[in-house]
Amino acid sequence: MVHPFEVEKYLPLVFSKCFGNTHPVEFEIGCGKGKFLVRRAIENPGTNFFGIDRVSKFMKLGKTRAEKRELPNIRFLRAEAKAFLTDAVALGSVSIFHIYFSDPWPKRRHQTRRVFTEEFLRLLHPRLVPGGLIEIATDDKDYFAAMKKTIAATAELWENVRETVNERILDSMNKTSYEIKWAAEGRHLYYAELKKR
Ligand SMILES: C[S@@+](CC[C@H](N)C(=O)[O-])C[C@H]1O[C@@H](n2cnc3c(N)ncnc32)[C@H](O)[C@@H]1O
Repeated sequence: MVHPFEVEKYLPLVFSKCFGNTHPVEFEIGCGKGKFLVRRAIENPGTNFFGIDRVSKFMKLGKTRAEKRELPNIRFLRAEAKAFLTDAVALGSVSIFHIYFSDPWPKRRHQTRRVFTEEFLRLLHPRLVPGGLIEIATDDKDYFAAMKKTIAATAELWENVRETVNERILDSMNKTSYEIKWAAEGRHLYYAELKKR
């Protein structure tokens, strides 16, 4: 069955028009409540932040928090990641993609629904600026193992790949809602950072 969002079309996005400046752009895929992105936007006024999630219910919390603080450097949009990246995000326009705790779909028959695939990495890579980063986190050991295979299959794209356990690679001060929840339960958290060649 084709997911309804997969047939949605998005208009090309010009970040400089969207934010009214040419500051670097960080982009979170599956931002949930936007907790991490709002904190980063507060602490990094010289950077723009764009969060998407295909479910708007939780994202509205982040949006409201950003609006209350009148943050000029953050936007949220309900969108499906693959279609939005394909249609709307220009090549060489994003300095960091953040992908945290994307749904692991542990049942084998559901694993084709996972966002993190080789095709997906090949979609992200050209949209990064030179030397741009992809930051990843998951609590699911099997999903992380699959991610590492996917990263290895695209090794030619990356100048550097870092992996850690229970140690955030970028911005150790700020965490996502799921990160806080799973850390409190004592789960192991797996992180990776890919640097564009
Ligand atoms: C487990 S939650 C993690 C939320 C947040 N990143 C965090 O760490 O707290 C996964 C989020 O990804 C979103 N998501 C899953 N697949 C998506 C897709 N294809 N496009 C956009 N968002 C997606 C879900 O709606 C959900 O909000």
